[in-house]
Amino acid sequence: MARLDVAETFHGILFPGYLHTQDSLQLALKFPFQDTDIVIVSYPKSGTTWMQEIVTFISSRGDPHVSQTVPNWRRAPWLEQIYFPAIQETSNSTPRVITTHLPHHLLGPALQGSKAKVIYVSRNPKDVVVSFFHFHKIANFFPEADSFPEFLNQFLEGKLHYGSWFDHIKGWTGQIGTMNNLLHITYEDMSLDLHGAIQKVSSHLEIPLLEEEVSNCVKHCSFSSMKDNKMSNYTLINEEIINHGKGSFMRNGKIGDWKNMFTEELNQYFQSIFEAKMKDCTLEYVWEE
Ligand code: A3P
Repeated sequence: MARLDVAETFHGILFPGYLHTQDSLQLALKFPFQDTDIVIVSYPKSGTTWMQEIVTFISSRGDPHVSQTVPNWRRAPWLEQIYFPAIQETSNSTPRVITTHLPHHLLGPALQGSKAKVIYVSRNPKDVVVSFFHFHKIANFFPEADSFPEFLNQFLEGKLHYGSWFDHIKGWTGQIGTMNNLLHITYEDMSLDLHGAIQKVSSHLEIPLLEEEVSNCVKHCSFSSMKDNKMSNYTLINEEIINHGKGSFMRNGKIGDWKNMFTEELNQYFQSIFEAKMKDCTLEYVWEE
């Protein structure tokens, strides 16, 4: 199947040109956020789609109607991808939910002064790189992945699409305490205590939920429910764009799958770079269940 991997370089970062153009990226940087907006931000493969589902359910107070009738890319459109058309479509519903992978140094200025509620989702980077590697096999808008060791090297050097994981994490989490409308939550938080994570997000969004509504969210945001929901599992996307025969977007959904790909040598190499690059950072990740 033909690959659609035209690379677009924007501010020194590679983006998949099939999804983003220079114009759409440029417009994203000037996006007029409204104070009522909810903005989901993440590095790829960190649990973005999961958070889109959680926010959908919190907004609908546990009612599955929206999640089962509207695809996630319409419920929570990508800022840098579809920009105005899809966001305008959702603009009748307050709050609007907007998703982005843009790093803070690019999007920060547009958010400055806004009271939009930002949710930054991150995940332990060993699982991120493994998930991203598998996603390259099925997503035709990315180049064919090299061997895993080579892919890991590109990840550590910040050469993959969407740029450096380290810059992304440090850029956004560096705003904790400065941006008071920012919540940082990890994939592992959601995985180990989905109920607690939903309560944390609902309180950040100032949408208090009844216990029964939280329980409904938990039920519908589980890996198995989302895997079965065609409005959330990306199976509605054309085969030319995602090669469904080669794997699923909802692939594994666990903490610690990296252990199936990292050799001892790769792990030591990763660890040395991770420790050096994160030495000024107090973040701690859960690496296994
Ligand atoms: P895996 O490839 O490790 O399975 P993103 O949405 O940022 O691209 O992240 C995709 C990753 O989140 C995939 O990880 C996917 O399976 C996982 N994911 C999505 N929904 C999930 C859920 N409800 N529970 C656990 N993992 C989920």
